Amino acid sequence: MILRSITIFLVLFGARVYAEPLSLSVKEISKDLAAETVTIKVIELHESDENITNTVTYTGIPLETLLQYLYPKAWKAFDGKIYFYALDGYLSIVNAQTAREGEAYMAFARADGQPFTVDNKNQQEKDVPLAPFYLVWDNLKDPDLQRSNSYVWPYQVFRMELVSDTMLQQSLLPANATPAVQAGFEAYKNNCLSCHNINGFGGKKFGMDMRQSIKGRTRSELYEWIDKPAGINKFTAMPPLDPGFKGEDRKRIINQIIDYLQAA
Ligand code: HEC
Repeated sequence: MILRSITIFLVLFGARVYAEPLSLSVKEISKDLAAETVTIKVIELHESDENITNTVTYTGIPLETLLQYLYPKAWKAFDGKIYFYALDGYLSIVNAQTAREGEAYMAFARADGQPFTVDNKNQQEKDVPLAPFYLVWDNLKDPDLQRSNSYVWPYQVFRMELVSDTMLQQSLLPANATPAVQAGFEAYKNNCLSCHNINGFGGKKFGMDMRQSIKGRTRSELYEWIDKPAGINKFTAMPPLDPGFKGEDRKRIINQIIDYLQAA
């Protein structure tokens, strides 16, 4: 519904609104940016591991070029986060600065005419559809991108949005937040926002607003959800908090996230 009203809005007014989520049409974009379309060969992250290196050549548009096209006024001076919304509810977040480094491409087809799908080894899924858009990185040119998993490769991207840090803070951080709540907010943004939303900001992997879902839950229940969700629901689709956080550090971060959620 939201998607449709935005599309109608764009058609009626022809305007591209700063910070509004924009739905992406392959048809429109590949026509308007035909001259900017390139082929890009990458080591396909989802189909490679330490032992296997699988390269694929995609057809797409440099991310920067797409952003300039989508946000002709706002993009130039923008210094916040780019949100990529996927059809499966996942939200990926990329720094504007990272996009400016010019290594990212929004692919919309394979250059070899093969189906626009991928095998996601990590999730043991075959022939996952990538359309409408798939964010890929030039990891052949920049080997750093092969190691780092902080660079996200979201697929089924149907919508993008520019979200400034100030805007997110104003919408999600309560006034007079204590330092613990502020720290929890930072940790929430980094670890939870991609799947959960508050106030419509964030992923929709689990549809409900986080403030609703925590109602009536005790601190220890919330602690377990974050620390070890499989302890509550063996079949949960939620991963535990990054195992890189250990010991006292882990306890502190989980408690700060709970402080934040209870204050939000
Ligand atoms: C990769 C996606 C993902 C991430 C990241 C994630 N969650 Fe979840 N979360 C889910 C899903 C999906 C569920 C639905 C429950 C299930 O599958 O059992 C869920 C359920 C929950 C619930 C229970 C809600 C209910 O009403 O049952 C809480 C609380 C929660 N998550 C908090 C968090 C917090 C806090 C973080 C960050 C530390 C986080 N989640 C990170 C996907 C995620």
